Amino acid sequence: MDEKRILLIVGGGIAAYKSLELVRLLKKAGVGVRPILTGAGAEFVTPLSLSALCEDKVYSELFSLTDEAEMGHIELSRSADLVVVAPATADLMAKAANGLASDLASTTLLATDKPVLMAPAMNVRMWDHPATRRNLETLKADGVRFVGPDEGAMACGEFGPGRMAEPQAIFEAILAELQTARPLAGKRAIVTAGPTAEPIDPVRVITNRSSGKQGYAIAAALAGLGAEVTLVSGPVALPAPAGVKRVPVETAQEMLAACEAALPADIAVCVAAVADWRPESVGQAKIKKNGGEAPPIRLVENPDILATLSKGKARPTLVVGFAAETNDVEANAQAKLARKGCDWIVANDVSVAGVMGGDANTVAIVTNTGIERWEAAPKAEVARRLAQRMAEELK
Ligand code: C5P
Repeated sequence: MDEKRILLIVGGGIAAYKSLELVRLLKKAGVGVRPILTGAGAEFVTPLSLSALCEDKVYSELFSLTDEAEMGHIELSRSADLVVVAPATADLMAKAANGLASDLASTTLLATDKPVLMAPAMNVRMWDHPATRRNLETLKADGVRFVGPDEGAMACGEFGPGRMAEPQAIFEAILAELQTARPLAGKRAIVTAGPTAEPIDPVRVITNRSSGKQGYAIAAALAGLGAEVTLVSGPVALPAPAGVKRVPVETAQEMLAACEAALPADIAVCVAAVADWRPESVGQAKIKKNGGEAPPIRLVENPDILATLSKGKARPTLVVGFAAETNDVEANAQAKLARKGCDWIVANDVSVAGVMGGDANTVAIVTNTGIERWEAAPKAEVARRLAQRMAEELK
């Protein structure tokens, strides 16, 4: 890792102070950091602090004769293995998404031929604004990778998504990007995620509270290790992770068909909360209240996607299921492993407040040879560790 170098663009947000800690972590790990500080960034951290920690000159101006003589901005943009923007402000994201080149940071982002990783940081309303959502989608489509933002209390006194990811998480994302060994390169993975929605009539569905966060994080982590990932997703409010092919579905039957269409694969990870039953018949028209008795809804069993993939002819080498339990978590997981015919069950206790829909998870990996209990960790971290374990398994 010694010779790896990043170009760090520090934008103008209160989170800029966290970038100093990020530099410290990177330097400790032997990663070279060349800093670009925007004019707004310099309102939050001083060039001197950044320069001292990076042990390098701070670049700030596009039209600086001395800087250009030493290292032109084109060369600067290509002098590193990775360009990191932390904090990535709404303004920097907007400029990069639209190809503007009005200062050194945006010009560098336009001129670089290196991978780019952004750690957004902004007020929750700015993050939620349709313009920022559009810019995010555009940047993702351009291949920009993202880490964060986190949800939480903000310096402006508000609460919500928009807080810059913690330095440790950005550091890990950088190391993952710098990793030249992509252990899952050439491997294909299918990930199911989110809930299913089973129609009762044209307007009503039976669904559940799955957010899709854990499945999306696993798809992103597998892609990060080089796998070609098909993410078969029920209806969720999440953007598709960069570099992942998303196939949107609604019902369990559609989910199974999409998984089978994505075969052959080396890995299948069934994270989706699939409805066990669906209404036997779907009304062609909206069922009306007619003052009489409530209409009965007869349910029939849905296909079990995990069991079907595990027992199918084109069985992926590694099939992983999830078990969301509220009691006897590990005993139930062991029984499920046998019943479904998969290789691992990742068991989690959803009776713990905040797991469903939340950002953290405590899991145990149940295999034929035993149980591994993992500490509570953010879903993204659980996903990274799982993907790493899967890569080791396939070695
Ligand atoms: O049967 P149960 O829902 O407890 O098992 C959970 C595991 O099985 C999860 O991995 C889930 O994605 C998968 N599953 C499935 N198809 C179903 C039901 C569950 O793939 N119809």
